[in-house]
Parts: sequence; C-alpha cells; structure tokens
Amino acid sequence: MPLPFPSLNAAEAAALIPHGATVAFGGFTPAGTPKDIPAALAVRAVAEHAAGRPFQIGIITGASTGPSLDGALARADAISFRTPYQSDPDLRKAINTGRVRFFDLHLSQVAQHVRTGALGPVHWTVLEASDLTPDGRVVLTSGVGAAPTFARCGERILIELNSRHPSTLCGLHDIYEPVDPPHRGEIPLYDVSDRIGQPWLQLDPTKIAGVVVTHREDETGAFAAPDAVTTRIGENVADFLAAELRSARIPTEFLPLQSGVGDIANAVLGALGAHPEIPRFSMYSEVLQDATLALLRAGKLKFASGCSLTLSPPALKALYADLADLRSRLVLRPQEISNNPEIVRRLGIISVNTAIEADLQGNINSTHLFGQTLMNGIGGSGDFTRNAHLSIFTCPSLQKGGKISTLVPHVTHADHSEHSVQVIVTEHGVADLRRLDPRQRAERIIAKCAHPDFREDLRRYLALCREGHEPFAFEHAFAFHRRFQQTGDMRGAFTA
Ligand code: COA
Repeated sequence: MPLPFPSLNAAEAAALIPHGATVAFGGFTPAGTPKDIPAALAVRAVAEHAAGRPFQIGIITGASTGPSLDGALARADAISFRTPYQSDPDLRKAINTGRVRFFDLHLSQVAQHVRTGALGPVHWTVLEASDLTPDGRVVLTSGVGAAPTFARCGERILIELNSRHPSTLCGLHDIYEPVDPPHRGEIPLYDVSDRIGQPWLQLDPTKIAGVVVTHREDETGAFAAPDAVTTRIGENVADFLAAELRSARIPTEFLPLQSGVGDIANAVLGALGAHPEIPRFSMYSEVLQDATLALLRAGKLKFASGCSLTLSPPALKALYADLADLRSRLVLRPQEISNNPEIVRRLGIISVNTAIEADLQGNINSTHLFGQTLMNGIGGSGDFTRNAHLSIFTCPSLQKGGKISTLVPHVTHADHSEHSVQVIVTEHGVADLRRLDPRQRAERIIAKCAHPDFREDLRRYLALCREGHEPFAFEHAFAFHRRFQQTGDMRGAFTA
C-alpha cells in the first residue's frame, strides 16, 4: 500500500528544518543512524553560511553517529550544541576549540532527560527505518538508541526508509519505554532474553513530515585485529574470570557480560570465547560488535542483548544472511533499557570497559586527556560500572610509544570513582582491588598493572604520601602529567 506521507529527497527534507531547531536523531553509533538527511543539512548549512545567513542546529543522539552526521555537520559549522557521546575527529576538534557546546550524559539517562524537558523541546526527530506502515508503525534497523522517546517527544518527524536493511528485521527489536517517576514500577526484565515490549515503534503518523527513501549502508569502520597488547589484556580478563569461577565468587552458570567499545573489547570477547574454563555465557550489553557475532555463531554465546549491531559492513551483511538462524538469540533494546541501572544490578552484570587512565586510588578517567581535551564521552560506562556485580576496567599500560603511563598518581579527570571500580587489568596483570585498603590498592596497582618503566616513579610518589587514609600528595599528584607537558615524556617524574 502506498504510504500517505510526503515522499521527499534528502535536500527537501533538510529544507524543512530551520536554523535554531533542536534535532534528535535515532540510531546508536553509526548503526541505524540517519545518513542522507544530516548530510543534506550540512550541504544546506554551507550554502546558508555562504549567503551570509546563520544556520546551526542543536543535536541530541543516542550515542556516537557516522561521518554523515557528526563529521559532516561539524565540518559545516552547523552544530550549536551536541549531547551525548560522540567519537568523530572533526566534531571532537570543534568541541575542544569551543566551536560546539558539548555536554555529556550517561546514555541510560538521555531519554528521560528528553521526556522531562531538561534538554529543551525537540523540534524535529529523524529516524532510520527498515519498514513503515501507513498508521505509523516503524520497524527500526541496526540500532535503536533513544528512538522511541525521540519519536514520541519530537514535534515533527522525518524518516529515512533504508532498503539496505531487510524487511525481515521485524522481531529483532524490543521497544519499551518506562513510565516516569513517581509512577514507575519495576521494569519486568528478569533474564537477558526476556522481551517486554513491541517489535515495532508506534508513532503518531500525523507528525510525519516526510519520508526519504535510501539504500545506504551503515558507516561503521572495520575493527583492528588484536595485537600483542590487546590479546594479553583479553587473556588476563579471561584468566581472572576463570579464577573467580573456580573460587565460586561467580556462579557456575556465569553472569551476563557487558563489554565496552573498541579493539580491547573485541580482544576480551575473543579471549573469553577461547578460554576452556569459561562456560557458555550471555551478553547484556550496549554495543554488539563483530566478536559478539563470532561467539554467537560458535555457540559460546547463548544470547546477546544490546542496543545496536555495531558491526563492520561485511559482518552485518553476513548476519542478515543468517538472520533466520540467529534471531532467536538476539535482541535490540532502547538504550534506556540496555543500560538500565535497575536491570544491570538485578542481572548481576560483569562490566568490562576501557580507561584512558587510572590512578593509584582506583579512580578512572574515561573521557578527557590531561583533564582538558575531550576524547569521546562517558557513554554507557557509568551506567554499567556503578551497578555491576563485578566492574572491570582495562587499558594498555602505556600510550604514545611508552612516553605516557596510563597508571598515574592521580587522574586528571574522574569519571568513575574508586567506589565503583573493583578490578583494573593491563597487559601486565590484574589488580583486584576488593578487600584492600587505599595503600594496599595503590601497591597492588603498581605491582600488577603498571609498566616496569614507571613502577619506580609510582613507588616514589607513594613514599611521598605519608599521612592520612588515602595515599595522596597535593604537590606531586600531577607530577607525571607536568613532566610530560614539560619534556614530552612522563618518565623520570620522580627519578630524574
Ligand atoms: N594520555 C594521553 N593520550 C591517551 C591516553 C592517555 N592516558 N590514553 C589514550 N590516549 C590516546 C591514544 O594514544 C590515542 O591517540 P591517537 O588517536 O592519537 O592514536 C587515543 O587517545 C585513543 O586511544 P586508544 O587506546 O586507541 O583508545 P580506544 O579506542 O581503546 O578507546 C576510550 C579508549 C577510553 C577512549 C574509549 O573506550 C571510550 O571512549 N570510553 C568511554 C565510553 C565507554 O566506556 N563506552 C563503553 C560503555 S558501554
């Protein structure tokens, strides 16, 4: 049946959105994120600016997006504010030079902030769909993000109907929006595989301003093959979890795993898959990456619940080819549910996320270099870490060819406090911080995680922390960072 909505090209759709509008985009990472309309908005912004007219929009997303959204709009100087997580190099530059106002949010909180109006009105919502019915039923694509809330709260809606995603996707999604406090009951999800909502998103069809038909693939990049360092980190995590199983601190059937983004996360999953003592397990995570799919196929993964299929294009194509076999073991949920603290605590998640730096107290910096320069954002790491049954942070012990130690006297920005962080893992080993007092924690982190080039300097710092409960010395806490800024190398901060 023909759709009763205006059929537009991307430029016509972009022309509807005025300067100053707040626009919410569905999807999560490049998966399921609209591509044609944001790219057309960037072209429009360049033309408006050339004609001497202002053109900027505020942007709310699920998480990071693809280059056609964050990259193109940042290069076109078309973004006034942006929230939450991003990972685009051009947008990062615009944020760090003050050209885009960025504020970060825990990803589980984005939808509720939109519903309460804390982020202001959402004038336009742009969604990617694999199917749309005349009465406004939308089957989403490879990422859900906060699409249900964006659709309900957005004043007008534009849809990219993308035939790159098969119509057989219906049934992969579980769309559920909680009632807001004070009327919220429990979210009735008791097992990673539970379905609590609808397979489609029902929106108000009278809000649909137009549909843009497209055939664009997700703009997800390929993952790097694990190297010696990431492989070792993965093995250390797997060996640690196997030991936890042996000591019965993890039940024999294991606990659901959340695994962060990037190459270390892929290596951790690979190592868990290969470890003979780790039983078949489930994932209750945010992003499902290529390694997730490999484990599902191999049977090591019983079930994977996530918010997006952030797969390389060949992996997504292969999944779609096998969807009939795999769909009963996969579900995509809104980020408010995939990252929900109530559910993370109930299911007993083991969280594994990556740090930029960790300090001797166990505080973690996930977001800012040298306390100033935004990398990506907190993403879902806080949602999971704070509420996990067992919270683990991984990172290589060194950065920048060995000139930077990721284990430092004190973090220059704190995203996760020592109270939320239980275990730190590098390629050198595992620091299990449970049951340790602050000085023991510091000694354990130095002995197990720091690179040998930095252990002596870290011990000298610790020796300077003579008083009190927490080992901390005001005048020396940033000596590693200061030395790097002065010499381009953190080494020798206390021994030179
Ligand atoms: N000091 C200075 N630079 C550092 C650094 C440090 N302590 N740690 C990393 N860097 C630099 C790297 O050298 C690299 O620089 P380059 O781009 O010039 O090569 C860059 O930062 C990225 O580092 P890399 O090790 O490649 O990062 P990654 O891809 O493994 O990502 C995080 C690590 C922490 C940035 C990423 O996991 C993240 O954004 N986390 C927060 C959100 C999150 O945890 N989400 C998952 C929750 S579900």
